[in-house]
Amino acid sequence: MGRSVSVGIVGCGPMGRELLRGAIGSGIAEVRALCDLEAEAMDAAAEVIGNASVARFMDYREMLAKTDCDGVIVAVPQYLHAEVSIAALQAGRGVFCEKPMSLTVDDCRRMIAAAEAAGRALMIGQVLRYLGPYRYIRELVASGELGKPRAMRVIRSMDHWRPEHNPWHCARAESGGLLYEVNIHEIDLMLCVLGRAVRVTAQGDRLINLKVDYEDYISVGIEFEDGAIGHVTSSICDYLGRNAGEIFCERGTVYYDSLTEDVRIRRPDGETQVIPYSEIGKDYEPPIQREVREFIEACRGDHPAPIPGIDGLRAVAVCQAAYESAASGRSVDVVKD
Ligand SMILES: NC(=O)c1ccc[n+]([C@@H]2O[C@H](COP(=O)([O-])OP(=O)(O)OC[C@H]3O[C@@H](n4cnc5c(N)ncnc54)[C@H](O)[C@@H]3O)[C@@H](O)[C@H]2O)c1
Repeated sequence: MGRSVSVGIVGCGPMGRELLRGAIGSGIAEVRALCDLEAEAMDAAAEVIGNASVARFMDYREMLAKTDCDGVIVAVPQYLHAEVSIAALQAGRGVFCEKPMSLTVDDCRRMIAAAEAAGRALMIGQVLRYLGPYRYIRELVASGELGKPRAMRVIRSMDHWRPEHNPWHCARAESGGLLYEVNIHEIDLMLCVLGRAVRVTAQGDRLINLKVDYEDYISVGIEFEDGAIGHVTSSICDYLGRNAGEIFCERGTVYYDSLTEDVRIRRPDGETQVIPYSEIGKDYEPPIQREVREFIEACRGDHPAPIPGIDGLRAVAVCQAAYESAASGRSVDVVKD
């Protein structure tokens, strides 16, 4: 296990508290400081870590100046990710930043530059990589057993997400819109499977769920460097809700679907394997605990951050190009790193 690393957190909302559970579960984090604008959020976070007397701050700059934590977890809304992360990196701390890394590629570049200048770890919370079926599928395709993946299609439509419960979720300026808020997960997964995205064509509109000021339905076509093709369809105007995808490989097709709750693998000879979600991931470390543990290990120099800033930037670059494409009606090149 090795030595414990001291961490502070900025943003003690529901996600911040999940990350604190992960930090405690890792067994190698000592949570020394909490920061939030709301005292109640910090009370709830103190309860999660079982330390009522942990240091509390309402201003993250004060937390950075008055504490000497090795790592800072950033779990504020995404329009603040760059500002808080850069301040923490400039103060010489490692940073775990929730997804999406930020809302512009320029911000992501500034975050990466701050990490390089400080010589500190910067890890992005693209946790879907570690989650049961997605981890299973990603590892299966990466094993090469099914040949090269040539196309991938994902549909994620939300029946349960109520953006109006959290005002910043409704505003494009603060959440970035659906692709940044939700589908950055699927986009990151697609980049893991298909490689570098080069060009994007998107269509979207506000159709049914008018509580948000951005497209509640958006469909994105992505061209990849080696000619592979990806499609992401996302919505919050669906009363059923679905989270499904297909990966078309040279020697097999992989399906996953929340409606059937299984992964199906079909090979050219017709052999079909059906693996229920309930049987996947029994031996996996809880995903949030794993990402926080890996961040803490990166802070103490055991290994580089496994989901580094550049991965966060590449996913943000696809979102940025997609919204530009949806607004202009043209295909848009994905900006290079
Ligand atoms: N990985 C995932 O699957 C996942 C899931 C949910 C949320 N998230 C991400 O985690 C982040 C937080 O999400 P959430 O649902 O907990 O949001 P939230 O709005 O419920 O909580 C954010 C907290 O940050 C605090 N905050 C806001 N501005 C602050 C500031 N300047 N200084 C200190 N604290 C401040 C708020 O008071 C609030 O308690 C977002 O970036 C979100 O996209 C990731």
